Amino acid sequence: MGLFTKDIKTMDDLFVHQLQDIYYAEQQLTKALPKMADKATDPQLKQGFLTHLEETRQHVKRLEEVFKMHGTEVKAVDCPAIDGIIEEAEETAGEVADKAVLDAALINAAQAAEHYEIVRYGSLIAWAKQLGRTDCAALLAKTLEEEKATDSKLTKLAESKVNLRAAS
Ligand SMILES: [Fe+2]
Ligand SMILES: [Fe+2]
Repeated sequence: MGLFTKDIKTMDDLFVHQLQDIYYAEQQLTKALPKMADKATDPQLKQGFLTHLEETRQHVKRLEEVFKMHGTEVKAVDCPAIDGIIEEAEETAGEVADKAVLDAALINAAQAAEHYEIVRYGSLIAWAKQLGRTDCAALLAKTLEEEKATDSKLTKLAESKVNLRAAS
């Protein structure tokens, strides 16, 4: 089902489509985060990636619950946007020789993924509320909070330490 095949007719269709999109994205992130943790040099950054990996596994499970609450089949659709973000992260990481600079690049890549998730969850929550699905909205909101917290932890880590080391 794509945006141009006109399979999405109602807001409910759109909600389900974007659920399938973020479900795919979260699954891809559970594969990407261990690789990012491997590449990170800063111990706090490495641990941060591993902590978010655990949270991301929960995000996948929560989405499965939302599908069930909604009464829709648990299904993923390809999300070229997250594939692009992950691909770019891997490419950039392969090009950065200095370990401290690599940490700064990894934070940047991770934040691109978090921002993508924040946008998607933000709309999903708004649509769920509009559709009268406050149960779905509440569960999705738990994930959104974790994405936002991860994003701000990454900013703090970059500004307090990683960027300084990368620039020295
Ligand atoms: Fe997530
Ligand atoms: Fe995330």
